Amino acid sequence: TESLTLLGIESSCDDTAAAVVRRRAGAAPEILSSVVEGQVALHADFGGVVPEIAARAHAERIDLCVERALAAAGLGLADLDGIAVTAGPGLIGGVLSGVMCAKGLAAATGLPLIGVNHLAGHALTPRLTDEIAYPYLMLLVSGGHCQFLRVDGPDDFIRLGGSIDDAPGEAFDKVAKVLGLPQPGGPAVQAEAATGDAKRFALPRPLLDRPGCDMSFSGLKTAVLRQRDALIAEHGGLRRQDRADLCAGFQQAVADVLFEKSRRALAAHPVQTFAVAGGVAANTEIRARLQALCSGSETVFLAPPLALCTDNAAMIAWAGIEQLATRGPDGLDLSARPRWPL
Ligand code: KG4
Ligand code: ZN
Repeated sequence: TESLTLLGIESSCDDTAAAVVRRRAGAAPEILSSVVEGQVALHADFGGVVPEIAARAHAERIDLCVERALAAAGLGLADLDGIAVTAGPGLIGGVLSGVMCAKGLAAATGLPLIGVNHLAGHALTPRLTDEIAYPYLMLLVSGGHCQFLRVDGPDDFIRLGGSIDDAPGEAFDKVAKVLGLPQPGGPAVQAEAATGDAKRFALPRPLLDRPGCDMSFSGLKTAVLRQRDALIAEHGGLRRQDRADLCAGFQQAVADVLFEKSRRALAAHPVQTFAVAGGVAANTEIRARLQALCSGSETVFLAPPLALCTDNAAMIAWAGIEQLATRGPDGLDLSARPRWPL
């Protein structure tokens, strides 16, 4: 087809999102609109995403997000060629909201429906923003995910390794929590780290001594907690500089692990492009380290704009466009999958 315009819907975690993306033959893909409604304030008092609250918020907002995305694109349903929706993995209440909304629209309009894996959405984002060819290497690092993927096609992923416990974003969030910083923890820890001394505390780099691309962040998080407790015992509280130094040390340890494991992944799978995605890819220190890893090599480092690194629906619409061409649409019996490994 000459031109494909898809609506994307995303509601698998704590962002309700809708977007319209268009691909024209011979032209770069266009994000015609991208609406993201976060729920940070709704979950702030609970120290994490509460599934029941998230599900209700998605159900209440999803149709409005779709309306706003269409309006911002200046389009109506009749201008679309299909509807892509995150069908998993994620919190089932949220995923169901999105899938039911997409099915309703597909049933009413007769448009093709396509269920997209949320991780595939992240993994295909580099092809939305840049003209890159398969295969490429992807490091997906977010609040819920941590893995290296070799992306061989729109629906063709090889997992090279990943975290055996916490995702790095989860570790950033927990470290922020124990240091009394606001959520989401990543940006807060990064801001504190800017004035900290990363070398002051000796924090572990888990699994660096083991071959392969598997990672672990749980022990690092516990080490930060122990160091915090030692500082509090010594000084009767956490001093400003202590907190900054702990943040800097923690961030550096995560960056060291991601750097070394990326180096190994690239050595085993030499590809032209190394891309990152997921919320943690917003971290400037981590980006700089991965950029440095690739400079002076044959591999080009690619980090999508921040708004496309974190959860959004443009990546879902785009993955839908790519996958419609390779595997065709799903039926109205599409099911929502809380667990769905790539
Ligand atoms: O991809 P995302 O929006 O949601 C999913 O987890 O799917 O990622 C959110 C995660 C949170 O854990 C947040 O703390 C982390 O990404 N994050 C960061 C930064 N910005 C967001 N982590 C480290 N440094 C940042 N600047
Ligand atoms: Zn995500």
